[in-house]
Amino acid sequence: MKFFIDTADLDEIKEAKGWGVLAGVTTNPSLYMKVGGKLADFEDHMVKIAHLCDGLPVSAESTAKSAEDMIVEGRHLSSLAPNIVVKLPICAESLAATRRLSEEGVRINMTLVFSAPQALLAANAGARYISPFVGRFDDIGEDGIDELSTVIQCIENYSWDKNVDHEVEIITASVRTPNHVTQAALLGADIATVPFGALKKCLAHPLTQQGLERFEADWEKVKGA
Ligand code: E4P
Repeated sequence: MKFFIDTADLDEIKEAKGWGVLAGVTTNPSLYMKVGGKLADFEDHMVKIAHLCDGLPVSAESTAKSAEDMIVEGRHLSSLAPNIVVKLPICAESLAATRRLSEEGVRINMTLVFSAPQALLAANAGARYISPFVGRFDDIGEDGIDELSTVIQCIENYSWDKNVDHEVEIITASVRTPNHVTQAALLGADIATVPFGALKKCLAHPLTQQGLERFEADWEKVKGA
């Protein structure tokens, strides 16, 4: 399973990229707002992220409402840098826009997916990536991992390469904890997009820290012997 980072923060992206494991970036309007983003700077900011990522896929979300506007915005966003993927929220308008844009070679990440039928519709429309959300199910007392499992099984039941002539990858989204990452990998998700805080938690383990402290203390004794 590949790791994407779910952020619009340039420093976080730089730091995660430095780990050598980053396979892509996802952003959304809330994440852009969180870094103090302004409307006028949106495109420049997406270009900065795209350049920072040396060809890795970077999802930039369209906020257009109609299929026609999504198509116009999608074409524009994808023209900003070759690695920009257009993120569209699942609805009838975005399915129509995905059909057209994917036929033109624009990669679509279908977002706000909460059910297998939504994921199947997105795949049939030509979405290159499908983002089922996990954490937001947990927020309302339901099991996001359970729903993710259903989505993965339904998508894997078909060979999208042969049937609709394109590859589909599942991005586990709305990830909050290392356990979400583990469960997504156990289920065979292609990608998890993880906020930097949760990514750091994935790296840490109390026994690793404890072991490191013991090795360091013992090494000091070796040096003093
Ligand atoms: C994914 O692409 C979404 O932007 C993101 O994972 C949403 O996460 P949240 O539910 O924590 O806002």
